[in-house]
Amino acid sequence: MPVETIEVPVSPPYPVLLGDGLDPAEAVSGNLRPGACVVLTDSDVGPLHADALRLSLEAAGWRVLGVAEVPAGEASKGIGTYADAVGRLARLGLTRDGTVFALGGGVVGDLGGFVAATFMRGVDLVMLPTSLLSMVDSAVGGKTGLDLPEGKNLVGAFVRPRAVVADTGWLRTLPETEVSNGLAEVVKMGLLSGGEFFEDLALVPEARSGDPEALRALIRHSVRFKAAVVAEDEREGGRRAILNYGHTIGHALEAAADFALPHGAAISAGMVAAAGLSRQRFSTDLTALHEELLRSAGLPLRSPGVDADAALEAMSRDKKRSVADAPTDHRFVLLRDVGHPVYGVPVDEAEARRAIGALVG
Ligand SMILES: NC(=O)c1ccc[n+]([C@@H]2O[C@H](COP(=O)([O-])OP(=O)(O)OC[C@H]3O[C@@H](n4cnc5c(N)ncnc54)[C@H](O)[C@@H]3O)[C@@H](O)[C@H]2O)c1
Ligand SMILES: [Zn+2]
Repeated sequence: MPVETIEVPVSPPYPVLLGDGLDPAEAVSGNLRPGACVVLTDSDVGPLHADALRLSLEAAGWRVLGVAEVPAGEASKGIGTYADAVGRLARLGLTRDGTVFALGGGVVGDLGGFVAATFMRGVDLVMLPTSLLSMVDSAVGGKTGLDLPEGKNLVGAFVRPRAVVADTGWLRTLPETEVSNGLAEVVKMGLLSGGEFFEDLALVPEARSGDPEALRALIRHSVRFKAAVVAEDEREGGRRAILNYGHTIGHALEAAADFALPHGAAISAGMVAAAGLSRQRFSTDLTALHEELLRSAGLPLRSPGVDADAALEAMSRDKKRSVADAPTDHRFVLLRDVGHPVYGVPVDEAEARRAIGALVG
């Protein structure tokens, strides 16, 4: 199947190259000349896919100084792993004109992106997302970040990769629960987008079972949609906030569960809650639609057992991170209808408590 290019129209623009079984070095050859590089990956993805990447790069004339592997998992988005990674680049002899290839899921993308943005004040970055979530969401849009003990993504930078290469062939080794996690973001964007993307959410069950055509169609829709939103508001001054649909309560559930709850599961429940709040505000009832789509993606609709008070507390902490917030209300993204998101909708403490209570009881 030919390689497809979807441009992210920021300045300078960068391409997302989408294919199945493509040659990554050849895919980026129009955007970068071969030179010295380091591959950053994690301990799950490295053993599966780093050798093939190294061969592809070397065959195209790249000098691969080394493959730096970090432990798989969210804990690698910390300052300690960051310090190890930049130290490793220095010891490998990467210079200002070098390139970092970030091969992995959202953790490697966020860490590798921040490494590339800061090492020697910035080296070139190529994102090679290997999880569905990173292909449809985190590898596109330029946000990179690290977690602190004080909270998730508290350190970071906006960075524009030179290219993003998404090879759906990599998804064949992705565990089923991680496919569902990625589909949570796909369902989110389909609901926000409406139109043909929304109609193609009918492909979710096939995508869940690994059908390459269905996966490719949903990744294409998601990347196009996210690219358009990002082009309009790269630094999230306004409309980019719609991408947080389901995330206000979702993040709170994750924090209250000490991140034992997968992100996809948390935002799935968060979207069900947001659909309930949307029904109260706009008298459009999209709750059954949400439940049907999320169920078809293999996602839970509730988060039983999570402490409601801890979730509310986490939501208030999160709120403090936004200057635009009113002192008492939470700000939500809600859906007036499919394809018609509204952001910055005030939701008071009592409503938020009821919405969370309905999920965790
Ligand atoms: N920057 C952004 O805009 C943005 C957006 C959304 C999420 N994120 C971040 O992304 C992270 C979550 O990303 P994720 O869900 O990809 O998690 P992840 O990177 O931890 O990947 C999930 C697991 O799947 C493994 N994996 C990935 N690809 C694989 C493959 N092809 N085969 C086998 N195993 C594979 C990983 O090693 C890991 O164990 C979070 O830290 C989140 O904050 C960032
Ligand atoms: Zn998310």
